[in-house]
Amino acid sequence: MPRYYRYLGELLENGFERISSDDLSRRMNVTASQIRQDLNNFGGFGQQGYGYNVKFLYGEIAKILGVEKTHNVVVVGAGNLGHAIAKYPGFDRRGFNMLGVFDINSSLIGQKVGDLEIMPVSKLKEFIMGEDIDIIALTTPKEAVEDIISIVKDSKVTAIWNFTPVDLKAGPDILVENVHLADSLLTLSYKQQMRKNNKLE
Ligand code: NAI
Repeated sequence: MPRYYRYLGELLENGFERISSDDLSRRMNVTASQIRQDLNNFGGFGQQGYGYNVKFLYGEIAKILGVEKTHNVVVVGAGNLGHAIAKYPGFDRRGFNMLGVFDINSSLIGQKVGDLEIMPVSKLKEFIMGEDIDIIALTTPKEAVEDIISIVKDSKVTAIWNFTPVDLKAGPDILVENVHLADSLLTLSYKQQMRKNNKLE
């Protein structure tokens, strides 16, 4: 679904009003029947002979993904990764409002990341409560994880987007999405290896 959402968003930006499943399948490099099957799981959305209404489908997938409403996000850990995430405009466009960046390093406090001023982590709890923050992007070293979890416990935060190199579990009330870019790189390397092996056979 995130992939459909991304492609449909691009189509909308480029002024497409409707698209056939064949055309969508060529662009996404999946079969048209796969598209129909995927979308049928959620109720269809297409019309015989018309294809898909791009805006409608984009809106329906937004509902499925829970992004028809906006999410307020703060980044904790204003290092290399934290900067990249806080500054990326594509998240805002998809309804994720980056509202704050926090760090423990006093020499970073007050510096700007895009439009946002880095705030001390001691103010994190107060900020989360005041600004209705529901997602934390966690880009600290792994040693800081416990501290941050204890700060966000019993707050309005319901999800952590975790980039630290621990497979985080934050308790029953907080969803965690662990992101490991190295896993993706290893997958690529594995595919390279497979291709090489197949050519040697
Ligand atoms: P960095 O060292 O540039 O930034 C970490 C920042 O966290 C620093 O500014 C530091 O002052 C701050 N920090 C430390 N303790 C804190 C606390 N208790 N509260 C708030 N801020 C605190 O590191 P970088 O390169 O940005 O990496 C950040 C994390 O992301 C690391 O854990 C790294 O291993 C991980 N990482 C994960 C990747 C992935 O694919 N998931 C890829 C690259 C890095």
